[in-house]
Amino acid sequence: MAIREILTFPNPLLHQAAKDVKEVTPDIQELMDDMLETMYHANGIGLAAVQIGVHLRVAVIDLAREDESAKPQYFVNPKLSDFSEEINTYQEGCLSVLNPKQTEDNPVPSIYEPVQRPKTCRVDFLDYNGQPQQLECDGLFATCIQHEVDHLDGILFLQRLSRLKQSMIEKRLRKAHARVTRNT
Ligand code: NI
Repeated sequence: MAIREILTFPNPLLHQAAKDVKEVTPDIQELMDDMLETMYHANGIGLAAVQIGVHLRVAVIDLAREDESAKPQYFVNPKLSDFSEEINTYQEGCLSVLNPKQTEDNPVPSIYEPVQRPKTCRVDFLDYNGQPQQLECDGLFATCIQHEVDHLDGILFLQRLSRLKQSMIEKRLRKAHARVTRNT
């Protein structure tokens, strides 16, 4: 297993859609192992392959609380359906959307913003062993799987915010990025 580099906004690769996986081979399993390790290392609860620059439809999620043991979930070719009309709002953050205010003293890594999504949905996918599975999604899991499938379609949660908010945040992030790039 290996920790991979997580791409961050404004990297254009984050806006490129991923392709279906043809077969869950040992290479794909190794990719999932690496993604899980990368996600744990970054203290995330979900990671899509696009975020490490691999444009294949693979995502990993672990929603276990800190006092629980790890509950990794693997999703190959996840397909969402049966979206509820009922909407849920969650404060979303993303390992690819870093907070420009982040410093050594301020460990908050992400920008968090409230995002509205359908409260429940269904996901069909292949698991770690290539077996077809389906799950009903609710609560944080529903939000998280929709966030990850968005990544696989080249969409960041910022694009789910109001136009005004999106452009304000993106401007701030681009400025911070330009500052960092100049300094290195
Ligand atoms: Ni994300």
